[in-house]
Amino acid sequence: MTESKFDSKDLRRAFGAFATGVTIVTAVDVEGRTHGFTANSFTSVSLDPPLVLVCIAKTARGFDTFIECPHFAVNILSEEQREASAVFATAGAEKFAAIEWQAKSTGSPVLDGVAAWLDCVMHNTVDAGDHVILIGRVVAYDHNAEPPLGYCRGAYVSFGMSQDTLKLAEQSGSLRVGAIIERNQQILLYTDSNTGEVRLPVSARLGPEENPTSLLGQLAVAGIDAHIPFLFAAYDDGDHHCVYYRGEANVLESCSSSLKNGLEFVEFAKIPWNKIADPPVHMMLRRFISEREFDEFGVYIGDAVTGRVKTGTAFPPDFHGF
Ligand SMILES: Cc1cc2nc3c(=O)[nH]c(=O)nc-3n(C[C@H](O)[C@H](O)[C@H](O)COP(=O)(O)O)c2cc1C
Repeated sequence: MTESKFDSKDLRRAFGAFATGVTIVTAVDVEGRTHGFTANSFTSVSLDPPLVLVCIAKTARGFDTFIECPHFAVNILSEEQREASAVFATAGAEKFAAIEWQAKSTGSPVLDGVAAWLDCVMHNTVDAGDHVILIGRVVAYDHNAEPPLGYCRGAYVSFGMSQDTLKLAEQSGSLRVGAIIERNQQILLYTDSNTGEVRLPVSARLGPEENPTSLLGQLAVAGIDAHIPFLFAAYDDGDHHCVYYRGEANVLESCSSSLKNGLEFVEFAKIPWNKIADPPVHMMLRRFISEREFDEFGVYIGDAVTGRVKTGTAFPPDFHGF
């Protein structure tokens, strides 16, 4: 085995910047047992002949089955299938217990509710480091209008995500859009000059940047070029629909020493917890700092007290207080 000169955790982060869809790859072994694993390494390869590929880790429990099996199916998940993704990413789970499926052409399981499926015969396998590339020739497929599930930087992303809902809340004045913005292990915090209270940057609308009252507009005025594409928490605090995104920021050279309007990047270790009055902000910051360690972010959905964090790698646990 060759030694990589890279830190694998960091390399994984670089790989993870490539946004993908999410698939569940399935097969049936010679004894008729079903196997499946979540995979985002899927790629279409060729139209003629119709070829696709997916990479399977040599450590996967189903590895022997998949490299020996003459068929497999690729199920391209829809937005509603985060839980199925989590189940099939959990080694040892009863993977097919909670999902309906049918055999189509080769007998490999095609799952209900997917955005598309590709039933394949094995065309070739290629050894590739700690994975093997499974190349399949598509013998049957189908697709529909379901919005597909996305995945990037350790978190699920929804392409069609609730833009309409946000618009409605914005129009009714009940929207609060906030952000957890990181730069060099520091978090952007806002200090109210009158009360001394500290919170995350927040506004009644997300954008556009040209509108100085929007969140992106306020950040731009302070010289912060923020990229906050990921949903981190959505909850109702009784008065407002609160939506928090997470992301990173570049700070313009001219503004790097002192940020304007009470905004300041603060090291994780120096966060003034006693000045943060809003309990959800406490919880979000603590969750962000701990999830960031493994680059595995969840999305909290609920109210200001109880809800659940939807995660990428295991069953979403019921979660109290973010
Ligand atoms: C979004 C996502 C994408 C994944 N992509 C892959 C992949 O492309 N190849 C792979 O071998 N494992 C991938 N995994 C991990 C496997 O799904 C996981 O290790 C699973 O437990 C393997 O199943 P098994 O060990 O029960 O066979 C991914 C997990 C997630 C959550």
